[in-house]
Amino acid sequence: MRLPLLAALLAVGVTGPACSGTGAPAKPERVKIGFLVKQPEEPWFQNEWRFASKAAAGLGFDLVKIGAVDGERVLTAIDSLSAQGAQGFVICTPDVRLGPAIVAKARTHGLKVMSVDDQFVGADGKFMDVPHMGISAREIGRVVGRALHEEMTRRGFRTAETGLCLPTRDELDTARERTEGVVEALVAAGFPADRVYKAPQKTTDVPGGMDAGNIVLTQHADVKKWLVAGMNDEAVLGGVRAIEGRGLKPADIVGIGIGGDVARVEFERGQPTGLYATVLISPRRHGYETSELMFKWIRDGVAPPAATYTTGLLMTRDTFKAVMQEQGLTE
Ligand code: GLA
Repeated sequence: MRLPLLAALLAVGVTGPACSGTGAPAKPERVKIGFLVKQPEEPWFQNEWRFASKAAAGLGFDLVKIGAVDGERVLTAIDSLSAQGAQGFVICTPDVRLGPAIVAKARTHGLKVMSVDDQFVGADGKFMDVPHMGISAREIGRVVGRALHEEMTRRGFRTAETGLCLPTRDELDTARERTEGVVEALVAAGFPADRVYKAPQKTTDVPGGMDAGNIVLTQHADVKKWLVAGMNDEAVLGGVRAIEGRGLKPADIVGIGIGGDVARVEFERGQPTGLYATVLISPRRHGYETSELMFKWIRDGVAPPAATYTTGLLMTRDTFKAVMQEQGLTE
């Protein structure tokens, strides 16, 4: 945080206070946008930043990337953005219930806000009226559920020896919808609902998925073949690692994630692992398009659509190279 703070001080020093008594402040010449993410170390968010930077370079605005891992840091970051002369920001918040505080803080500084990935929830428990881009969570979950069933059938797993290991994060709507979609489609395809074994994740990363996976495995030590799903690649990879850690072979595990970049690293390994496939979602759309929408909102006064839900594409170890290339995600 040392650099942005320094930049903030310099910005104030150079331009002088906003209310200098000379009438309306001059219209800023260059647009400056913040892009705040909840887990800056994760490939998904690194990629959102990468594509947001491309938008900044291509469209000609300044981008301030901020890792905001808790509420305090989010609020400090908004103050700092305002001091640096930003006019708006895109955010994946560390907690969707911070929505009202984020909007209130942005309003005091006159900053525009758009959420990405995780949609703000108001005090009434409903989604807030803030422009949002997220994934079509339930539909993507269903794609995972159908693919799990197809692959277990292809491998000849018997239902009586198979279980679904499902780390869950029900307090985050986009996560709950994804895992509910998985179960809906799997059960609709004939998988017994009583062989769905869930455990809540404390964190939405690989260790969080692994801890949840280990809880499931301890409770169901008799299961011989595992299907694994979850809210993202990290959750599924955590579950898969927990199962592999108990000596099961990749041939007995069908893990299907949601994301793409974590799975890609796994697919690039020489030997197949329990992570069989993923549904590729688009960090390009979530990073580039959200920044572009914010830019046009600031520059032209055109507000972004209320909500945009992006789609996904199933890809396996065999198809990922072609699919990612087609999506421009290989550089
Ligand atoms: C959430 C998850 C991320 C990613 C995005 C996609 O924020 O934590 O890993 O799946 O959704 O919108």
